[in-house]
Amino acid sequence: MKPIRVVVQGALGKVGREVVNAVCCQSDMELVGAVDLKATQDYLSLPDNLGTVPLSPDLEPILKSSKPEVLVDFTVAQASMPAVRMATKRGVNLVIGTTGLSSDELSEIEHLALEHNVGAVVAPNFALGAVLMIHLAKIAAKYLDWAEIIELHHHQKVDAPSGTALSTARAMAQSRGRPFSYAEPKKATPSRGEQVEGITIHSIRLPGLLAHQEVILGGAGQTLAIRHDTISRECYMPGVILAIKEVVKKKGLIYGLDKLLGL
Ligand SMILES: NC(=O)c1ccc[n+]([C@@H]2O[C@H](COP(=O)([O-])OP(=O)(O)OC[C@H]3O[C@@H](n4cnc5c(N)ncnc54)[C@H](O)[C@@H]3O)[C@@H](O)[C@H]2O)c1
Repeated sequence: MKPIRVVVQGALGKVGREVVNAVCCQSDMELVGAVDLKATQDYLSLPDNLGTVPLSPDLEPILKSSKPEVLVDFTVAQASMPAVRMATKRGVNLVIGTTGLSSDELSEIEHLALEHNVGAVVAPNFALGAVLMIHLAKIAAKYLDWAEIIELHHHQKVDAPSGTALSTARAMAQSRGRPFSYAEPKKATPSRGEQVEGITIHSIRLPGLLAHQEVILGGAGQTLAIRHDTISRECYMPGVILAIKEVVKKKGLIYGLDKLLGL
């Protein structure tokens, strides 16, 4: 079978660099081009002396010359949508890890993917463990009446609560289908955290942390903690590699890695 031809946009970024390395390690994939706004030369050297691939700050010439089947995007939301429009027009499938896409933008991705007969996997979290944490929390939410979330991230993270904490709370509430119990303080205090869907979320920001989350559920005489720790950005790679393999077989939008895992 011919290897899947892949272009990475955001190839010089923290996650993009990992994607470049991971794709190069796959015998059934070939990195054929790289795009990054920070590009200062027209080639990217591959790890382990595997040679070079064309590199450009612009996606269009790379799509034209490299003819990929899949574009992987880890950049910023403003860069993703022009890339989606350009790639789908050329029949290129999409794997998007960039966060911050609006629901209107997701609808547009779905529409464009269907119109051009390509697949688009968009996943706000490619870490298998994080996806499993949410899945397990959804199951537990049906049985235990109390729940709080502690999310811990590096001090440079700008948003709080994290997108993962928000989507965990929403998924738990939807799975439960009835309100959680909550210990209302006598006097309002920020130290009790932020309420989302009846679940209190506590955000911790410290240097030394990467991305961590603990969902703690409580019932009479017991607690259950489900915790995920991101130790390095390598954690996203099995999910990204799975998405590249699967997206070439799909049409339309697949939102969330859980769909590809059959959860
Ligand atoms: N889905 C997930 O599992 C997951 C995991 C980690 C990070 N992320 C998201 O991935 C994105 C990238 O994260 P990061 O930590 O690698 O950031 P980063 O800043 O290290 O890398 C982003 C790269 O994109 C490049 N870029 C920006 N605009 C561009 C454009 N218009 N064209 C081409 N390249 C452009 C930048 O030059 C940079 O090299 C963020 O949105 C982040 O939230 C998602």
